[in-house]
Amino acid sequence: MIEDSFLDEIKPPRHGGRVEEVARERGISPEEIIDFSANMNPLAPPESLGSYLADSVSSLELYPDDSYGKFRNAAIDFLGNESGAKLERKNVIPGNGSVEIFRLFIRAIATAGASTVLVPFPTFSEYALQSRLFGLEVDRKKYRELFGLDEAILSGYDAVFLCNPNNPTGTLRERETLVKFLEKARAAETFLVLDEAFNELSSPGASLAGFVYGFPNLIIVRSLTKAFTVPGLRIGYGLASGKLADRMEKLRPPWNLNYLAASIGRRFLEEEKELLKRSREYLEGERKRLREKLEDLGFSVYPSSANYLLFRTKETGLTAAEIVDRCLDYNVLVRNADSFYGVDEWHVRVAVKKRSDNEKLVRALEQAVD
Ligand SMILES: Cc1ncc(COP(=O)(O)O)c(C=O)c1O
Repeated sequence: MIEDSFLDEIKPPRHGGRVEEVARERGISPEEIIDFSANMNPLAPPESLGSYLADSVSSLELYPDDSYGKFRNAAIDFLGNESGAKLERKNVIPGNGSVEIFRLFIRAIATAGASTVLVPFPTFSEYALQSRLFGLEVDRKKYRELFGLDEAILSGYDAVFLCNPNNPTGTLRERETLVKFLEKARAAETFLVLDEAFNELSSPGASLAGFVYGFPNLIIVRSLTKAFTVPGLRIGYGLASGKLADRMEKLRPPWNLNYLAASIGRRFLEEEKELLKRSREYLEGERKRLREKLEDLGFSVYPSSANYLLFRTKETGLTAAEIVDRCLDYNVLVRNADSFYGVDEWHVRVAVKKRSDNEKLVRALEQAVD
């Protein structure tokens, strides 16, 4: 018989992008729903995806190359180009989406005796969940308190997690702020896990990819999901050095990146930089426009440097749950942000999408607050 375990007490968090589930509940087809609850690049996937797929299909009868040399090289060249980072293949750990990288990291430190991690709030829920799944204790502090923590406090944690730009707020911290914090964490012998899932859609210059070499306490987590709008393919990677990189590589399941993900991911990294540049330009203008429309409707919008906006609904007298419900009457799915630890029931998050979709969102919200 299987014994009782602390795992039995852990509940998985609620994520965005639950289009099929919501469509089933509402008795409509998933295609009718415009999804603002998951934050993808509105100008992606690139048109070339179809031909990349066709090129890869004939190789599905083979195992992927488990050394992932071409994928790793593509990631190294991409990061060199985007942020000036100099990396080697052994610094790149392929992941079945970036969530697998969090898991590999936590397993790697848990096997070496880690006990406690620091997760600021609000932020992406998987850092705390994955840590708890491996028996680590999770301490929480407000995001804005984090950068003021001194070395003595940081040294009480085996790892601290940061998301840049942060999800759900969209707040971007500049490279200098992060480097100072990284130095403090190194002196405290604490790992810094930096999630750069939205970096390509925000500010490539803010990446710390170039710091992996000098800082064995740094692990960067990257994803192709958001930048290229391929949540279904599951492509991510971690960047680390020294013993940590070796251990994560050992823990990585064989062939964890399936053939389509590895080959299409490589092509994206090699050939779609122009698309990312165009996307950033588009997002900057459209985010501003959408933000103004939301403010006109009476919402307080948090400053964001990412492809999504978090806003407070309290002034309209409607809770996030009510807004979600009312928007669904117009087949518009928005994210109730109260599932993020530390966020109350008055917060909604929306993706910045194509102009025509954003107009539909604004119309649905207009009706909702009317
Ligand atoms: C901040 C952040 N990091 C990582 C992920 C996971 O992405 P992936 O699809 O690469 O596992 C998400 C997904 O929502 C996210 O919001």
